[in-house]
Amino acid sequence: MIIPVVIAGGSGTRLWPLSRRLYPKQFIPLIDNTTMLQNTISMVNGLACKPPIIVCNQAHRFIVAEQLRQQCIEPDAIILEPISRNTAPAIALAALHAVNNTDDLLLVLPADHLIKNAAKFCEIIQSVTKYAKQGKLITFGIVPNKAETGYGYIKQGKKVTQNIFNIESFIEKPNLTLAKKFLASGKYLWNSGIFLMQASSYLAELAKYQPDILACCTQAMRGAYADLDFLRLDVTAFCKCPQDSIDYAVMEHTNNALVAPMDLSWQDIGSWSSIWEVSDKDKTNNAVCGKVLLEDTKNSYIYAQNKLIATVGVDNMIIIETADAILVMHKDKDQQVKNIVNKLQNNK
Ligand code: GDD
Ligand code: MG
Repeated sequence: MIIPVVIAGGSGTRLWPLSRRLYPKQFIPLIDNTTMLQNTISMVNGLACKPPIIVCNQAHRFIVAEQLRQQCIEPDAIILEPISRNTAPAIALAALHAVNNTDDLLLVLPADHLIKNAAKFCEIIQSVTKYAKQGKLITFGIVPNKAETGYGYIKQGKKVTQNIFNIESFIEKPNLTLAKKFLASGKYLWNSGIFLMQASSYLAELAKYQPDILACCTQAMRGAYADLDFLRLDVTAFCKCPQDSIDYAVMEHTNNALVAPMDLSWQDIGSWSSIWEVSDKDKTNNAVCGKVLLEDTKNSYIYAQNKLIATVGVDNMIIIETADAILVMHKDKDQQVKNIVNKLQNNK
């Protein structure tokens, strides 16, 4: 059976001021009434799954427990990280927790994606389980439509069968020149960040390419203990773990992976413009939330939490109002919100 593993320990800084350190984006209802975490879990309703494993920061443990409870989900484990070490260690913790269930497959799900057709998503996952059971690391690829530098790029190799291909190369977050070249070649897919694999296959690749990460995570899990619904790690061991994402740590090196293209509407909800992209728009391409009055305004995203926002002669802007902060920015500059968050943290 499949065990969903939701990695929900990111900080979501590019969605400031709504996403905050103590309450990051994955725990907020950004697109509809359910939070990104809840959406992620319900995406696999169409698959025969065991209870999920959630890996998150310990500061968010009660938020996670409460959001699961709201959906009547009894998790297999909520693994708490004392600090963020990125996704390679987070997935290693889940794999170490599940490694004795040899017949199970881990379905690694980032908690910041929006997939509109969950039924089709489940079909695609189901169609490639055979390869994951043979020990392959399966990634899911999206046909790119722009030279996005925030994603991994997978060069599709020879076809294995109808819906699964070898991987010729995997390049995580290329620079713009490379991203443009990859897009123009038509030979690359974006890495969706979703993976299907046996726990033991992932741990074997870690042992090969990142033995330090594996050693620290093994130590951290050996000293782990249950506390209410939570699994707390050996903090000293985990804090020694090198930081890295699965993409740089494993996917760029392994020759044991395959890619399954996913022909469906997929979006990483990482920035305000990505929320604008997936939202319903008016005749002049504006998406709004809350009390908003627009005059001669186009291509903009406007979010009012408490006050009325009125705009005149505005184009391609993002305006976000929350109880204690207002963000006004050009839509093309939305990656730079990170710099504001850094400035705020440095001023503390
Ligand atoms: N538990 C845990 N611990 N989760 C983490 C940590 C951590 O230290 N760091 C990140 N995550 C979670 C985030 O909450 C998110 O759900 C997921 O892991 C992916 O992290 P991001 O930081 O959002 O990664 P990314 O978007 O820059 O890049 C990844 O996703 C892209 C597609 O969305 C990569 O896999 C890219 O290759 C991929 O294209
Ligand atoms: Mg992301």
